Amino acid sequence: MTIAIDVHLPADQAVAMEHDVREGLAASPKELSPKYFYDERGSQLFEAITELEEYYPTRRERQILVERAAEIVAAAGNPATLIELGSGSASKTRHLLDAMRDAGSLRTYVPVDISEEITRETAAALVEEYPGLDVHGLVCDFEAHLERTPTTSEAGPRLIAFLGGTVGNLYPDERAAFLTRIAGLLDPDDRLLLGTDLVKDPGRLELAYDDPAGVTAEFNKNVLCVLNRELGGDFDPEAFVHVARWDVEHEWIDIGLRSLVDQDVRLGSLDLTVHFDDGELMRTEISTKFTRPRLEESYAGTGLTMADWFTDPAEDYALSLARLAR
Ligand code: TRP
Repeated sequence: MTIAIDVHLPADQAVAMEHDVREGLAASPKELSPKYFYDERGSQLFEAITELEEYYPTRRERQILVERAAEIVAAAGNPATLIELGSGSASKTRHLLDAMRDAGSLRTYVPVDISEEITRETAAALVEEYPGLDVHGLVCDFEAHLERTPTTSEAGPRLIAFLGGTVGNLYPDERAAFLTRIAGLLDPDDRLLLGTDLVKDPGRLELAYDDPAGVTAEFNKNVLCVLNRELGGDFDPEAFVHVARWDVEHEWIDIGLRSLVDQDVRLGSLDLTVHFDDGELMRTEISTKFTRPRLEESYAGTGLTMADWFTDPAEDYALSLARLAR
C-alpha cells in the first residue's frame, strides 16, 4: 500500500473569487457561483440538508450503491482503479470499493477533491480499511485540472465516478464541455459512473429544495455570509428570501435569493456597490433533473455514450455508466 497526494491549487484563490463575484453581480440577471456555498458552516448545513426527509437524492444514490454496487462494478468490467471526482469523505465510495475488492480487481483509488485536509484524512483511513490499496489523491478544482488524473491503466480498467448529481449544477454547454473532457481521459475499457437526479413531481422537487424547517434557505443565504467575510461585504441576509422553482422548460430547479427591498450592497474588497431592486432575483444555482433520453442526448457529441442505467426501485435517481462512443 502507498499514499501519494498531489496538490494543484491555483496560487491565488482569492483573486479567482473576486473575479467570479464581480462578473456574476454585473450580469443580468445577477448570479453567484455555487462554488462559494461550501465554507465550514455551508458544508455543515449541506450535511443537514442531506438528512432532511424532503431531500431524497443523497439517500436514493446511497440506496442504489448499497443494493447494486456489485452489478455496477461487473458492468464496468471489474475496474482496478476508481477515480472519484469530488470525493470528500468518500462515504458512498466505500460501497464501490467493497464491490471491487470482492471482485478481486481493486488496486488503486484516486480521490480528486478541492480540500487537501479531507483528501489526506480519507486517504489515510482507506489504506487502513483496504489492505494493499494504493491511494493517489489529487487536490485540485476538477473543473480546471481534470487532465492531471492518472491516465495509464496498466493494471486494468478504470472507473471515473462523479456522484451526488453535481453534473446537474452545470449549464448545458458546461456539461457538454465537461463530458468531452472526461471522454478525453477514457480508454475503450474505462467507464464513467455518473449520478443524476431524475425528473419527478414538481411539488416533491420544490420541497427538496425548500424544506419547511428552513435548512435549505439558511444554506442558500450562507453564501451571503461567505461574501461578507471574504470580500468585506455588508449583505443583510434578512433582506433576501430563498427561492426554489421548478423550471419546466429547462427541467431544472432554479435556486436563488430574492431581494425583499430596494437596496445597495457594498463589497469593500471589490470597491463595488451593487444595487438590488425590490423583488430582484439573483440566481445561486441550477439543479438539472434528467430523464434517460435526456441524459442520452447529453452524451451525444461528447465522445461518450450511455452503456448502462441503474435506478432505485422508485426511479427517483439514476447512476449510469458511460463509455467511449465507437
Ligand atoms: N448540488 C446540490 C443539488 O443540486 C446542492 C443543493 C441542495 C443546493 N440543496 C440546495 C444548492 C439548495 C443550493 C440551494 O441537489
